[in-house]
Amino acid sequence: MNRKTVSFSILSGKGGVGKSNLALNICYALHQLGRKVLLMDCDMGLANMDVLLGVAPEKHVQDILLNNQDPAAILVPFGPAGKAGLDLMPANSGMAEFADLDVGARGMLRDRLNPLAANYDFVCMDIGAGISPTVLGFSSMTALRLVVVTPEPTSLTDSYALIKVLSARHNVQDFHIIVNQVESPAEAKRTYSRLSAVCKRFLGFAPAFLCEIRTDRGLIDAVRKQRPLMELSPRSPAAIDCMTAAQKLEQLRDSLLIVGEIDAPLRSLPMHE
Ligand SMILES: Nc1ncnc2c1ncn2[C@@H]1O[C@H](COP(=O)(O)OP(=O)(O)O)[C@@H](O)[C@H]1O
Ligand SMILES: [Mg+2]
Repeated sequence: MNRKTVSFSILSGKGGVGKSNLALNICYALHQLGRKVLLMDCDMGLANMDVLLGVAPEKHVQDILLNNQDPAAILVPFGPAGKAGLDLMPANSGMAEFADLDVGARGMLRDRLNPLAANYDFVCMDIGAGISPTVLGFSSMTALRLVVVTPEPTSLTDSYALIKVLSARHNVQDFHIIVNQVESPAEAKRTYSRLSAVCKRFLGFAPAFLCEIRTDRGLIDAVRKQRPLMELSPRSPAAIDCMTAAQKLEQLRDSLLIVGEIDAPLRSLPMHE
């Protein structure tokens, strides 16, 4: 029985809200806090974590299923100056047949990944946008779900739809909201309150607030330079906020481990779709 790995997925209703960048920088921040972290690119259709890191891996997560590849052999370390304990499992983009994995393939992947995942304190899944079965399946495998929203009305309605479908079809009701691209904490609170009020009224539960991430030009520069913002400018606003997110995740991890609910890094899948 595994007692220490806590997995979290990063998801959103709408694409382009900042999931991949937040996944990357929150993982980097957790590593700076001394944790071992595995970042999995699970956006099977539009994988791009390799691009954000400026690496060109030869093997990808798809090879585990296609070629029976050993999961440990496809990892790309990306910690500062090769410092161990921060690894990317890259995915191959543009493989149409992998954009949607069926429940059997996801279950097989989970069984292949769990022994490797157990070596880490945190496993982060960067998941595609929307409500496809792959998105829903991957995000219900993790112990925690972080939903990234922005103050745009379309982001709010799409996030609500995602939370609604996940709770109805996969019986998942714990969500933590990250409000990205805000100018102030007050703007984040307003955005969160709107989403939370709709969830409470129509679904009967409210997601929790994790943190806000400020709009930061430094992040756009980091994307262009293909390096994590946390590495290039750790004192910039979004980097400081990603560190806050990491600290909150540490607290959540502690409370999950105390409750003792974690039996495997990635949970069993519901067999229906
Ligand atoms: N906090 C932020 N400040 C400035 N720009 C941001 C921020 N978050 C996201 N962006 C912009 O949004 C773009 C898309 O982010 P990305 O992480 O690829 O989104 P997703 O994975 O949700 O599709 C980034 O390349 C960046 O230009
Ligand atoms: Mg992305």
